[in-house]
Amino acid sequence: MTYPHGPFPSLPPEEEALFAAAAAGYARYRPGVPDAAARLLAGALRGRPAPVLLDLGTGTGQVPRALLAAVPGLAHIEAVDVSRRMLDQARDSLAPVLGRCTLRLVHATADTYAPLAPLPGEAQRAPDLVTCCRAYHWMDGPAVLAMADRVAAPDATVAIMGDGSLWTHDCDWTLALRELIQRYLGPGRRAGARGVYAEPSRSFEEDLAASAWTDLTEHRIPIARTWTPAEVLGYLRTTSFAGPTLFGERHAAFEADARALLHAHASNGSLVENTVFTVLLARRPGGAS
Ligand SMILES: C[S@@+](CC[C@H](N)C(=O)[O-])C[C@H]1O[C@@H](n2cnc3c(N)ncnc32)[C@H](O)[C@@H]1O
Repeated sequence: MTYPHGPFPSLPPEEEALFAAAAAGYARYRPGVPDAAARLLAGALRGRPAPVLLDLGTGTGQVPRALLAAVPGLAHIEAVDVSRRMLDQARDSLAPVLGRCTLRLVHATADTYAPLAPLPGEAQRAPDLVTCCRAYHWMDGPAVLAMADRVAAPDATVAIMGDGSLWTHDCDWTLALRELIQRYLGPGRRAGARGVYAEPSRSFEEDLAASAWTDLTEHRIPIARTWTPAEVLGYLRTTSFAGPTLFGERHAAFEADARALLHAHASNGSLVENTVFTVLLARRPGGAS
């Protein structure tokens, strides 16, 4: 497991700081990849003897973890993230479950990722599956898809997936929570130190249609998640829209208000989020470059 040596092209320092600060809480409070989605991704690798995964914006390694369980023959993982702290957490989370699979941690922005040149006599191991979970909106999407076209195996699959956030979710307790955050931070959805979140100008589907990855299928997986109020507070601390630094010295007051609100909405101590995990599976037309 290695990081390449710098210099790295990277995000603005305040954006990388946002992810670094969230890294420890991420491993603990961020939901993993649903089993049904892991099975779907495993299906894209069926019949390949020693498949290779390239995971972009790996965070604390949620996608590799799910795939190590769903694809017993997974041979190698390239896990890319712009945050070193996230990669440290990914290493700690994945090391115990790697088995014979090898892992390379790559500290880079996804669009600048490049594989290591193979050693003499070694074959290049091009990725069979390129995944990007809850991270594509942070990236230069078209450049990421062009990079995937450069590096992936001819019949590879790209998977862009995610499930929104407690900010975007619409039910009584998430709406009340959003209103509370807005009372503290103003009406716009904050995006860490960058200011206010800007919706992407093109949808992920439009990006794919304009790329080499035009053979697209969409899969929508309904999921019901249960949270305790303490887990919601832990999750909020990892987000770009309600992280502690945004509140400054009012963070403790916000958490007290949020805790009371969540307890008032909880039933038997639990809050339910019924959401949809969407997976866009894309291949090159005809399955070759
Ligand atoms: C919301 S987390 C998602 C983590 C994980 N994939 C998951 O499903 O939970 C987004 C991750 O993308 C990383 N990231 C943001 N912009 C990136 C970029 N341009 N290139 C690579 N990683 C990036 C962040 O550091 C963070 O770890």
